[in-house]
Amino acid sequence: MTDPTFTGMDELYRDFILDHYRNPRNAGTLEHPDASFEDINPLCGDKIRMDVAVRDGVVTDVKFRGRGCAISQASASLLTEEIKGKTLADIEKIGKDEVLANVGINISAARLKCALLGLKVLKQALALKYEPSEEEKAYPDGQRS
Ligand code: FES
Repeated sequence: MTDPTFTGMDELYRDFILDHYRNPRNAGTLEHPDASFEDINPLCGDKIRMDVAVRDGVVTDVKFRGRGCAISQASASLLTEEIKGKTLADIEKIGKDEVLANVGINISAARLKCALLGLKVLKQALALKYEPSEEEKAYPDGQRS
């Protein structure tokens, strides 16, 4: 029976989300990731891990694995599709609005952390590996007086 809360476009998007949930793109792990991080949604304890391969500032591969609701897993799956081939600088600019637009359905405030878990993990993975240290920020030319 059709869920009465989904009609028209909503139903189309529900199928789209369920497809990513059931057949996540880029599922798994990388053997030697350049950056990796795992975190949980503190509201439910569900988790996602992201492994990223980077060459010359460009994401060449990404895999994710985790457990969680359809929104969290579909959102992470969509994100992995989006970032392959992008520069770290472009990925830095990806924010909440873009992720929610990709998911394509209205997300209630209670489910926001679900939808954004993948992005949070991805940003943290890249930040830990590629963000300049405090010392590098203070001496961007690598020179100390
Ligand atoms: Fe746990 Fe959505 S309910 S990630």
